[in-house]
Amino acid sequence: MIVAIDGPAGTGKGTVSKLIAERLGFTYIDTGAMYRCITLKMLNNDIKLEDTDKIIEMFENTKIEFENSTDDDGKLVQKVFLDGEDVSKEIRTPRVTEYSSPYSALPLIREKLVDLQRKMAVGNNVVMEGRDITTVVFPNAELKIYLDATPEERANRRYKEYISKGIETTYEETLEAINKRDYTDMHKEVGALKIAEGAIVVDTTNLSIEEVYETLHKLIESKEQ
Ligand code: DC
Repeated sequence: MIVAIDGPAGTGKGTVSKLIAERLGFTYIDTGAMYRCITLKMLNNDIKLEDTDKIIEMFENTKIEFENSTDDDGKLVQKVFLDGEDVSKEIRTPRVTEYSSPYSALPLIREKLVDLQRKMAVGNNVVMEGRDITTVVFPNAELKIYLDATPEERANRRYKEYISKGIETTYEETLEAINKRDYTDMHKEVGALKIAEGAIVVDTTNLSIEEVYETLHKLIESKEQ
């Protein structure tokens, strides 16, 4: 079974996907992390968006892997490895976050990653989240969800996350970055964020993460029957 989840930044896609993986035994695939890895590699190697040959060559020599474990509270912890190196923290910095939006708009990068995402899902019960999972990667998924929330609430969640990680920023800066990223994500030439045909929209603005999980859990159960 494939549970495909799309939505803008800060709607709780990652958190709820981890709960589904943890509690229902699904394999969690964080496609945003994959775009972030490519962005990080391009920034580190000074590869520009117009360097088509270098990008093609980079993909031939790039390995993105997820490693799952559980912490003492039984919570799923997912580490992301880029070419064998743990980049879980590095891919979440504001700099990589900012660049990942325009970098992920490049059709060549999307084509390569979509291909990889489809391969990763073969033979497993999968929960995959991102921006184009319900529209491009798995338009025929058994369950398609579009998570939403107001930009203010999403900025609030992201701001708290940054502060808890010791990243210095302000609420206003975070809100501005969210609005900017929404715009780029929704206006991509390929793989733009939109509500897929047949997707169920869940507004999480006033829901706790447990309430979001419960909503999705019921939908998964109804599809399983
Ligand atoms: O979900 P995230 O914030 O980790 O995603 C990082 C960036 O990657 C985001 O700006 C949008 C882009 N992205 C995408 O274009 N397609 C996806 N399937 C997932 C993420």
